[in-house]
Amino acid sequence: MCGIVGYIGNRQASPIIISGLRRLEYRGYDSAGVCVVDSEKLKINKKAGKVADLENGFDLMALKGTLGVGHTRWATHGVPNDVNAHPHTDMSGSIALIHNGIIENYLTIRKKLVNAGYTFRSETDSEVLAVFIGMLYDTIGDLETSVRTALSEVEGTFGIVVVSTYDPDLLIAARRGSPLILGVGTDEYIVASDAAAIIAHTRQVIYLQENEMAVVRRSGYVTKTIHNEETSGNIEEISFELDQIEKGGFPHFMLKEIYEQPITFRDGFRGRLRIDEGNVRLGGLSKVYEQLSTAKRIIITACGTSWHAALVGEYLIEQLARIPVEVEYASEFRYRNPIINPDDVVIAISQSGETADTLAAIREAKTRGATVLGMVNVVGSSIARETDAGVYIHAGPEIGVASTKAFTSQLCILTQFAVYLGRMRHLSADAGREIAQGLAEIPDHIQTILDQSESIRQIAQQYSGVSNFLYLGRGYNFPVALEGALKLKEISYIHAEGYPAAEMKHGPIALIDENMPVVFIAPKDEIYDKVRSNIEEVRARNGQVIAIASSRDSRISDAANHVIYIPETLPMLTPILASIPLQLLAYFVAVDRGCNVDMPRNLAKSVTVE
Ligand code: F6R
Repeated sequence: MCGIVGYIGNRQASPIIISGLRRLEYRGYDSAGVCVVDSEKLKINKKAGKVADLENGFDLMALKGTLGVGHTRWATHGVPNDVNAHPHTDMSGSIALIHNGIIENYLTIRKKLVNAGYTFRSETDSEVLAVFIGMLYDTIGDLETSVRTALSEVEGTFGIVVVSTYDPDLLIAARRGSPLILGVGTDEYIVASDAAAIIAHTRQVIYLQENEMAVVRRSGYVTKTIHNEETSGNIEEISFELDQIEKGGFPHFMLKEIYEQPITFRDGFRGRLRIDEGNVRLGGLSKVYEQLSTAKRIIITACGTSWHAALVGEYLIEQLARIPVEVEYASEFRYRNPIINPDDVVIAISQSGETADTLAAIREAKTRGATVLGMVNVVGSSIARETDAGVYIHAGPEIGVASTKAFTSQLCILTQFAVYLGRMRHLSADAGREIAQGLAEIPDHIQTILDQSESIRQIAQQYSGVSNFLYLGRGYNFPVALEGALKLKEISYIHAEGYPAAEMKHGPIALIDENMPVVFIAPKDEIYDKVRSNIEEVRARNGQVIAIASSRDSRISDAANHVIYIPETLPMLTPILASIPLQLLAYFVAVDRGCNVDMPRNLAKSVTVE
């Protein structure tokens, strides 16, 4: 979702801002803009479209100035056009603001400003904030105080950066509900919504906290609350390398990330698996050991792909630890007055750690007294910080909008978590050992599947022209069917649905004809024969069957039009392996249709608005 970059220092700001915005393109956006402060005036270029469009007919690098801001906008209030793009200015054109988030009471503030004679050019809530700060400046005469006063009246969420011709040695950044990071260089500072825009310049960063602001000059900075109380502003180190956010020879980030999975999966259990003991060590959970050992119920909350991982987690935890688990869409959770008891454990799963709905759900759970845990990828993210304890999934930066490696890493952590809980209860060391051994073998199995990518590409090409797909699976692999369908629809724009295979006869079977490809996840497990019957039902209606099957299944090719084999593993680990060919299938279908795989239309990598 929207991206923020701000720079103050002694170098020219615009090349740093533009390269930062390019690093944030993966987050999804529909317009972009840059503003550089010349001592006399603000120089702004903003446009609907991509960062590259800003450069059409305009020499961005010719913008001269060592203080500036840049923004990529994902439209919420007002269509994506040049006027609604950020930066926005106050009415005098002296103060520029970029904003992520939503100002919920913007209509009230706007009305007040209109009554006072102020006018607006855009339809955005963000311009209202810029004009409001300008109005306050007209009476207060101090930018920092004006920003703080405006923010104290704002309801909603914001990550903002403000610069002005009034003081060309001042950059102000503030956050509530939208991430902001201050990169601390030598005599220069870069503010961004994502460390990816900072790492090329410095690894030293301060993650601004809720309701915190940074007041930055070339000579130094202070961090404080938006109520003007100084804060400690701890400097931390960015935890990834620059090459991890580059394509490394792959045509798309998504393909690179699919191929990284043997490594990222291993990173998820490295130092944690204790095969000999049949157990797992999750250091991040040691401080909630007591709560976990007495937990009566677990609620897992998440969105999208992370929610699918949570569904697999439900099966795993109930099976191995015999604790009842509920999986909740984070977006629904807080609005239905959830019943939460003090001995419930609530777990938030999130790749970005910034998803607004998930963040709101954990805040709700905390208010109601639950122990709240996080399973998060992005180090230092809001969910990681606001949970009582947690486990990082260690998938590394995920740039492709469609989540791939984060999903398998989430499954890696959830499996270990289920073993960890199970071993606190009745799960035997032998059973734990078998699962730990199975997990340790997964990276090689993933590689075996990746080695079949050419044959998966050929299958994908045969079906890239269809309009609908059905994905069916049972048990542990029902969530994988949902995930396979989501992957396909989000990057190829083909309509796809996931269903529990046995539910097919209660409705979706009506859709089946010779034009309907049906992907069955059908590994050899205790319900294989049932799934096999569902395959026959599809074949009897001339549906096209693509089966994801176990390598020892010699009979499956009689029933399926295409078979993609996955190596043998424990049934509970098959979701990890089955998801790999589905990622590749979606990827190759989308590429064949000429879709922008890494930045699908309308989608954002990190959904920081409700
Ligand atoms: C799908 C996808 C989204 C995210 C969802 C939650 O490929 O990426 O469905 O899974 O927006 O995001 P996180 O995990 O960052 O909370």
